[in-house]
Amino acid sequence: MPEASASLRTQVVIVGAGPAGLLLGQLLARGGVDALILERQSADYVLGRIRAGVLEQGSVEVLGEAGVGQRLLAEGLPHEGIELAFDGQRHRIDLAALTGRRVTVYGQTEVTRDLMQARAQAGLRTVYEATDVSLHGFDGNSPVVRWRAGGRAHEARCDYIAGCDGFHGVARASVPTGALRTFERVYPFGWLGVLCDTPPVSDELIYANHPRGFALCSMRSRTRSRYYVQCGLDERVQDWSDDRFFDELRSRLDAEAAERLVTGPSIEKSIAPLRSFVAEPMRFGRLLLAGDAAHIVPPTGAKGLNLAIADVRNLARALIASCRHGDEADLETYSARSLRRVWKAVRFSWWMTTLMHRFPETGEFDQRIQEAELGYLVGSRAASTALAENYTGLPFEN
Ligand code: FAD
Ligand code: PHB
Repeated sequence: MPEASASLRTQVVIVGAGPAGLLLGQLLARGGVDALILERQSADYVLGRIRAGVLEQGSVEVLGEAGVGQRLLAEGLPHEGIELAFDGQRHRIDLAALTGRRVTVYGQTEVTRDLMQARAQAGLRTVYEATDVSLHGFDGNSPVVRWRAGGRAHEARCDYIAGCDGFHGVARASVPTGALRTFERVYPFGWLGVLCDTPPVSDELIYANHPRGFALCSMRSRTRSRYYVQCGLDERVQDWSDDRFFDELRSRLDAEAAERLVTGPSIEKSIAPLRSFVAEPMRFGRLLLAGDAAHIVPPTGAKGLNLAIADVRNLARALIASCRHGDEADLETYSARSLRRVWKAVRFSWWMTTLMHRFPETGEFDQRIQEAELGYLVGSRAASTALAENYTGLPFEN
């Protein structure tokens, strides 16, 4: 006997309940647009992924406007500067003095948790553990999304599909070949990251360029640290004991930071490859891409999550104008407007990655150029301001 299939109608189907999908759901609900979110994983799995940690001021404002800024305001750590370490010295970039803006340290998991909670409180629908999600008819006027959950086949008819399903998702992959142009750079190293319940080594983030490779000292709170070291692409997490990791990190820090570093058992340890990737355009008929589904940046500039938030801010406004008022002007320009800013963040992330890492193929000339650029950067107010302006986030409209 054929299996019963359940059919429903909504204005927007959002694929993916990462920060992009959840924030879009929240903004649409506040704008009076009905949406359904489909997520392949369980809610606990999504919350267990340790990823970004730094929010631009504009991202904090968007989350506030979305009604999920309360805990962020209370628990987020405002940072007015970052430190660049090289040649045995640390140099502070005073973000606030140079730009009048600051960033906030608040983990992606916490952003996700706040959005999930707001969604549950408002009684909005999210289907977790939705498998075999497939997208149909988005080149015409009646898109349909199909999936399986709870042993049954389901489908939703909608006006728009939002692909917020990350780099490996189904949305971008559903676009016909030839309709999409992609741009990619894969870097010859990764980041080995450790999370541990120890006080951070410093009040501010330290980005270190060292002959043994890049290192980053970050944090999630005053009692939880997040540390990274550049590693080879062939490294395996299981070969890195906590002791080996902290010895390596210590060796890449200046003497004072190395002395102050408090170590403890890791509560998470993972390796992430570094990649820049952009797919153009971000719209195909009634399918719209946002966040990692459309672009990836290496984490050096702390831009991935912030870019996802900026896309969603644009997309929510455009979808609300269309669904509520029949005004498609913002949807028409969504891709071009988003990509203008995306490319600037791709450039900044590429630049900061190139500046701070040791590349296997670097010769002596390139090495001297890197050293000269670091010296110029910390010695020139103009150069420091350019870094600070990008790090704290470019204007949404530019
Ligand atoms: P995601 O967070 O990837 O969310 C996409 C969601 O879609 C996921 O929940 C996924 O399960 C779901 N999904 C995928 N396929 C399907 C499907 N077929 N059907 C239904 N659902 C689906 N950025 C930084 O700034 N700093 C960092 O330190 C940092 N570290 C990172 C480490 C890793 C391993 C990765 C992958 C990314 C990291 N990033 C970092 C980038 C940052 O986390 C992302 O830019 C951010 O998560 C983008 O949010 P998103 O919602 O667009 O995508
Ligand atoms: C983090 O805390 O995970 C983090 C912070 C800054 C970055 C990248 C990652 O540039």
